Amino acid sequence: MKEKILVTGGTGYIGSHTVVELQNAGYEVVIVDNLSNSNADVVDSIEQISGIRPAFEKLDCLNLAGLDAVFAKYQGIKAIIHFAASKAVGESVQKPLLYYRNNLGSLINLLELMPKYGVEGIVFSSSCTVYGQPDQLPVTEEAPIKKAESPYGNTKQINEEIIRDYVASGAPIQAILLRYFNPIGAHPSALLGELPNGVPQNLVPYLTQTAIGIREKLSVFGDDYNTPDGSCIRDFINVVDLAKAHVVAIGRMLEGKQADKVEVFNIGTGRGVSVLELIHGFEEATGVKLNYQIVGRRAGDIEQVWANPERANKVLGWKAETNIEDTLRSAWNWQLKLRERGIQ
Ligand code: NAD
Ligand code: WQD
Repeated sequence: MKEKILVTGGTGYIGSHTVVELQNAGYEVVIVDNLSNSNADVVDSIEQISGIRPAFEKLDCLNLAGLDAVFAKYQGIKAIIHFAASKAVGESVQKPLLYYRNNLGSLINLLELMPKYGVEGIVFSSSCTVYGQPDQLPVTEEAPIKKAESPYGNTKQINEEIIRDYVASGAPIQAILLRYFNPIGAHPSALLGELPNGVPQNLVPYLTQTAIGIREKLSVFGDDYNTPDGSCIRDFINVVDLAKAHVVAIGRMLEGKQADKVEVFNIGTGRGVSVLELIHGFEEATGVKLNYQIVGRRAGDIEQVWANPERANKVLGWKAETNIEDTLRSAWNWQLKLRERGIQ
């Protein structure tokens, strides 16, 4: 058995896939999640896939004493992967204090406890949202951080700064900031996937819910952008590929290979795919016809962004492997499985 890793938000969408990959790689996992956006039965699915049941503590990361007790109970936690956060962009505009409190407070609590328990490092879930609309594409990690479009985006920028400031103060920790592009898809077993609360705001869950008949029509927000087909362009990254990036980041950190105490990596495919291309790709990959219509632009949308993932490719030795057709099929299989289970 390799080192013990604390995964906050480990029953969530990206966290659950990452726990599976960590366990497959031999790490021992302790999950902390308050279940505000996930279900405890995800732990069963993780066990079903990997054959190992991770330790699970239902706890809010804002609860400092509770977190302290977790570190005391599971002696020897070597590193943290910090997924736990509120993540809905629109909601963050309506409830900024909830977002600032949850996303900043949770990180601060973890950082504060790390030296006390000898935790060596933290991998933080950042986002391509920190780049806004980049001046140059594909975007590299050196691109300037633009003013955040939402309180959610701002929490990611501030969290990155909090980590940098803490390390600069001499705190005995290291950090890896992973800037995810657009994670989509589900585990190939269809036992894990994204479970949006209410009406999905993100493209792929809305698309699969439309395909299965929960939603009547998918709205494509704008076809008058300055892109080849007029719709927005994103870098859609398979969630299992994304999960694997965390495993290599943890390995690098714990093997003492970091060149800097804080490192940052883009985690994307390097390929831009338009919204219309994605829709047509889904239809081809699944044989399911999609009801969609072009409507006006959505406020706050970035026209186009995709990653230059060369640093992650070279330094981490990580590369996105899954093609978009397989990824879209996995999202569809997950949606079918949800119906089978009577969930959505
Ligand atoms: P998710 O909502 O599925 O998972 C987050 C998990 O954290 C949930 O299980 C939730 O219950 C838990 N959680 C939230 N606040 C908590 C708290 N205070 N204490 C304990 N648990 C708490 O979201 P996700 O898509 O898996 O995202 C994971 C991380 O990746 C987040 O930090 C998110 O901001 C970041 N991220 C996500 C995307 C994306 O498009 N999904 C893109 C870039 C970055
Ligand atoms: C993708 C494209 C929409 C829904 C968000 C956050 C970002 C990051 C990832 C966490 C856009 C279009 C969507 C629909 C559509 N999260 N669309 N019809 O906006 O790139 O990024 O999630 O850090 O911070 O902002 O993702 O999936 O919402 O949209 O046409 O019903 O699909 O306009 O062009 P986005 P998304």
